[in-house]
Amino acid sequence: MLKISPEKGFKTELQAPTAVLVTRRVTFAAAHVLRRPEWDDRRNKEVFGQCAGDHGHNYVLEVSVSGEPDPATGMVVNLKDLDRAVKQAVVRHVDHRHLNRDVPFLEGVVPTAENLALVFWRQLDGQMGSGQLQRLRLVESENNSVEVTR
Ligand code: NI
Repeated sequence: MLKISPEKGFKTELQAPTAVLVTRRVTFAAAHVLRRPEWDDRRNKEVFGQCAGDHGHNYVLEVSVSGEPDPATGMVVNLKDLDRAVKQAVVRHVDHRHLNRDVPFLEGVVPTAENLALVFWRQLDGQMGSGQLQRLRLVESENNSVEVTR
């Protein structure tokens, strides 16, 4: 158990036992259709179900970054910068777009939640400033989410 001793204060005495995970949540809305062009309608419907037709989701994207808090700021990463990076690398490209045809970095990708999460990871990795991208969770609907971890 981590004890913070009041008499010692916690400014310099508080040492993280391990890396700290910081998560930023963003949302976007996008349309997609799941289908393989080389399959006929029947097979697409069989495999992809209702997602074989055009429809949209209100996605939630959680991006988690790990690191040690900077002693001066107490922050692993400035959330303002993290938010800006996620919007720059992902959200501005996908929000209110059709994921099958409007997004260059998704060209040729069947936009399942799994594939989106992997491509978003690639877009974000190395862009997290002082922290390291550690976990990415994409929530597609109330009942479905996928997670990529390092
Ligand atoms: Ni869908």
